Amino acid sequence: VEVEGGPNKLGSPSPITLAKDEKSGLLANVSSASIIIVGASGDLAKKKIFPALFALYYENCLPKQFTVYGYARSKMTDSELRDMVSRTLSCRIDKREDCSEKMNEFLGRCFYHSGQYDSEEDFSNLDRKLKLQEGGEACNRLFYLSIPPNIFIDAVRCATLSASSSRGWTRVIVEKPFGRDTESSAALTDALKQYLEENQIFRIDHYLGKELVENLSVLRFSNLIFEPLWSRQHISNVQLIFSENFGTEGRGGYFDSYGIIRDIMQNHLLQILAIFAMETPVSLNAEDIRNEKVKVLRSIKPIHLDNVVTGQYNSQTKGDITFPGYTDDKTVAEGSLTPTFAATVLFIDNARWDGVPFLMKAGKALDNRRTEIRVQFRNVPGNLYKGNFTSDAEESNNELVIRVQPDESIYLKINNKVPGLGMDLDQSNLNLRYASRYSNEVPDAYERLLLDAMEGERRLFIRSDELDAAWAIFTPLLRELEEKNITPEGYPFGSQGPISAQHLASRYNVRWG
Ligand code: NDP
Ligand code: BG6
Repeated sequence: VEVEGGPNKLGSPSPITLAKDEKSGLLANVSSASIIIVGASGDLAKKKIFPALFALYYENCLPKQFTVYGYARSKMTDSELRDMVSRTLSCRIDKREDCSEKMNEFLGRCFYHSGQYDSEEDFSNLDRKLKLQEGGEACNRLFYLSIPPNIFIDAVRCATLSASSSRGWTRVIVEKPFGRDTESSAALTDALKQYLEENQIFRIDHYLGKELVENLSVLRFSNLIFEPLWSRQHISNVQLIFSENFGTEGRGGYFDSYGIIRDIMQNHLLQILAIFAMETPVSLNAEDIRNEKVKVLRSIKPIHLDNVVTGQYNSQTKGDITFPGYTDDKTVAEGSLTPTFAATVLFIDNARWDGVPFLMKAGKALDNRRTEIRVQFRNVPGNLYKGNFTSDAEESNNELVIRVQPDESIYLKINNKVPGLGMDLDQSNLNLRYASRYSNEVPDAYERLLLDAMEGERRLFIRSDELDAAWAIFTPLLRELEEKNITPEGYPFGSQGPISAQHLASRYNVRWG
């Protein structure tokens, strides 16, 4: 992969060639790479980023010389950081295997530097340490901003200034949320562009790194049987469902100023929708794919409030256990109207999807944890077998279910003759369950995305115009909900969510799957 080098907007370009060594999986020709996790003391760094880096190291996917630097305000020594990180690592590839040697090697490459996020001096001290380790070689710098969004800009300013004298590329992974609405998102993009070119910014949406989301376009574009059916002619509705069986636990402070629409719908579910519904891209090149995603996002009609249900979970006692309600969290404002559940219906105003409802539902503290795409097909015209079903239904339509998580699977519901002398039909599944079909473990989304960022592959990252288009869909609705102080409908912790969500779906002749 030919990458335009240049440390950042302020530095001089120095082209570097990255090439993936087919045999080893290593990024060949990268003399070194330093990965700096800004906010290393936080939840995401511990839970996801360090473990993903270790998994990449384990699979020989990191450059030959790499260092991982944790950066945060907390005081910590290198060995304290290693202690903290070691508690989060596991032998993902084969749980029975003893990977302690690899783990120790990896931990030996992890260091810590304590500093303020708005201190150029602290970042230049880090830079000096990095340069010493790099031994004068051209070094590539990948900064991962795993910090609250209000400090993104200060951190980018200081980090890129200090890195401007290094001779490799500088890239910055930015975590969500990218703003709260169209205006704040545009302001964030403008501020980032003071210090970085667009091609240095990697806006992460970890759902794009999930195996089954990546597989969506393989399913559509490399199987003859699906693409001809992928339109209003054959599909009656599409459901995008995100459900978690736990509450905001420990993240109430963040969640209360965002809510479920910004936390899940505007990004994770909308990204899935864009890949599901886009036209065939010219190629698999990142820009060709992102061009198609932007087109479909821009074709989505504004959302009407009467097509929206919001909810908030209440406490629930089951036996001896009481599950707390959303507002029982001390970090949540008293009387908060922030929705922890939302359901809505979107329409894509183009020739392929005109009139097809895309139903979205996302909620916390529900009865199960799953993310699914459910595609319901139309009736068979003039069906000869109406009335032959063993169930009460007169006929059953085909449905394709893509279960993103857990227990990744793709299954197609078909009508089938029940074996026997009669002519009874039932609905059965053609089932591709990953755990049964594939012996290798599904990698965590962060592994793929970190590897792509190091390779300069932007396909799974969000371009700024995609982000604008995504906010344009939700900003008017969010504003209306807030201006009208819409009170979310209560639902008990561990339930199916507000009953009105069922009514909303039934207005479109749909039952949530
Ligand atoms: P944390 O709240 O744990 O913050 C990360 C670190 O930032 C903290 O350890 C702290 O480090 C520093 N920090 C926290 N609050 C402030 C503050 N007000 N001012 C300055 N520094 C602060 O965040 P997470 O690790 O949970 O998330 C990091 C980013 O990733 C956020 O943008 C979040 O929205 C996003 N994200 C998180 C997910 C998750 O599951 N946690 C999932 C998806 C996205 P120190 O005090 O040592 O400087
Ligand atoms: C994050 C949201 O982006 O995604 C969280 O901020 C949510 O609220 C999480 O829990 C879900 O991610 P996953 O990969 O566990 O489904």
